[in-house]
Order: sequence, then structure tokens, then C-alpha cells
Amino acid sequence: MKLQGTRVLLTGAAGGIGTALANRLAQRGAHLVLLGRDEKALAALAARLRVAGQPVHALPVDLLDPLARQLAVAHSIELLGGVDLLINCAGLSSFRPFPDEAEQHIEHIVQLNLLTPMLLARQLLPGMLARGQGRIVNIGSTFGSIGFAWFTAYSASKFGLRGFSEALRRELDGTGVGVTYVAPRAVKTGFNTSAVYRMAEEVKMHMDAPDWVAEKIVAAIETGAKDLYLGFPEKLFARLNGFIPRFIDGGLRRQNRLMERFARG
Ligand SMILES: NC(=O)c1ccc[n+]([C@@H]2O[C@H](COP(=O)([O-])OP(=O)(O)OC[C@H]3O[C@@H](n4cnc5c(N)ncnc54)[C@H](OP(=O)(O)O)[C@@H]3O)[C@@H](O)[C@H]2O)c1
Repeated sequence: MKLQGTRVLLTGAAGGIGTALANRLAQRGAHLVLLGRDEKALAALAARLRVAGQPVHALPVDLLDPLARQLAVAHSIELLGGVDLLINCAGLSSFRPFPDEAEQHIEHIVQLNLLTPMLLARQLLPGMLARGQGRIVNIGSTFGSIGFAWFTAYSASKFGLRGFSEALRRELDGTGVGVTYVAPRAVKTGFNTSAVYRMAEEVKMHMDAPDWVAEKIVAAIETGAKDLYLGFPEKLFARLNGFIPRFIDGGLRRQNRLMERFARG
């Protein structure tokens, strides 16, 4: 997909990966609607990107509010004259023993990481299909292929997002509308709490820079890749877990015990 003049709806735009993506998309001449809850951060980002000349709109919205979400999509279509590229980047995580999770937080994780991308895609697909072109990009995680202890609710939501992406891609085959599923490993952003950073240091978990991740995502969009798994050996383990999960069980056992101390706080 050529990004010059492409009309993009980006969720989680003021976050670590979202901002790095917005920078690159604007540099390549895309027209943007930036979604998120933090009105000030979104407005500042939009003002900075607008210097490049092309349309950039900031649209504050809580994506967990169904009516606000629907209105934000309708408004985005109006502002851009249509949406060619939807990037589902907003996300929510949790790092704690599953029984300690608040019921509402589990609901929010699944709602934001899985249901919201599905419902945004559903609302935007008719326009893309009518034009015979478009792309939906879902930012998943390595934890969407390897269920990770202490990230149980988050892993479940990202497994769902991966399944949704695969099924939708197959359903849309031949329509001109593509789907790209992206699975980054850990990334250095505000997404991760200090407990996650301390745990990552203890177990020597690799953490990538958001700029590097964004560059890879933009390249995947430009080439129309169906998926993008980032980081070695994580991308190998993600594949292996599908074939021989018991091998991964064994490999993670010691690490899980090290992680437990941090997850319990
Ligand atoms: N960082 C990592 O280690 C990592 C690794 C693998 C995958 N990922 C995935 O990458 C994506 C981006 O992560 P990130 O690291 O950039 O995280 P981040 O910096 O925390 O950004 C997440 C964004 O989601 C938005 N958001 C949260 N709740 C929202 C809501 N109810 N309504 C609207 N927007 C909401 C936040 O915007 P507001 O605060 O303005 O609402 C924030 O900008 C996520 O899907 C995450 O699962 C991250």
C-alpha cells in the first residue's frame, strides 16, 4: 500500500508505538485521524505533525464507550472523506496472578484489545469493500502466540486478536482489502509498569525501541504483509508453541518462577 495520501485511522496514537507510527505515517504523506483519550497529548502530536502540511486530526475518545466509539469512526470518515487504513494500536495490559485481577479490568482488557478492533473493523469495512481497497492492521503481541504466565488476561485477548486477524484475512481474500497482524515482543514504552521493567531485567527479556517497531510496521503495511513477528528468538518460539507447546512449557518453567515475585508485587 502506498502511504502518500492514504487516509488513516490510528488508535492509541499518543502512546509509545502509536506516536512513532504517527510520525512515520505523516512523513510518508498519509492523512491522519489520531484517536486516544488524552486530549492534550493528541492535540500536541497533531500540531507537530501538521507542520508537514497534510491533514492531521486529533479526536479524543474513550474506545470503551460504545456510542463514543461509533461517533468517532463516523466523524473520522467525515474528516478524511473515507478511511483506507485502520491501525488498531490502543491496548491495555496487566501483570499479576490471574485470580487477583479485578473483574472489570479483565473486561476492559478484552474489550479494548479484542472487541474494539473487531467493532472498528466492522464499521469501516463496508467503505473499504465498496472501494475495493484498504487494510486493517492489528497490533497484537508475542503473547498472542505464547500464553504467558502472569499476563493471562492480556495473552487471552491477543490470542483472540490473532485469530480474528487470520479469519478476517481469509474471509477478505480477493476483495482488495488486506489484514496485517503484528506481534511485537516487549517494547520500551509507558505500557509496561515498573514491575514489568524490573522483571524484564531479572529474566533478561529483550525490549525493543518503539521507533524500530514502528519502522517495521510501516514497511509491513507498504508491502502488504499478512503478518509481522518481531524479534529473535521470540518469533521462532511463537511458531514452535503452535507445534510443540510442551517444549515451550519446559523452557518457560524456570522463568515463570522468577517472574512470579514481580507479578505478586
Ligand atoms: N509496549 C509493549 O511492550 C508491547 C509489546 C507487544 C505489543 N504491544 C502492543 O502495542 C500496542 C501499543 O502499545 P504501546 O506500548 O504503545 O502502549 P502505550 O504507550 O500504553 O499506548 C497505548 C495507547 O492506548 C490508548 N488507550 C488505552 N485505553 C484507551 C481507551 N479506553 N480508549 C482509547 N484509547 C485508549 C492510550 O491512549 P490514552 O492514554 O490517550 O487513552 C495509549 O496511547 C498495544 O496494543 C500493545 O498491546 C505493546
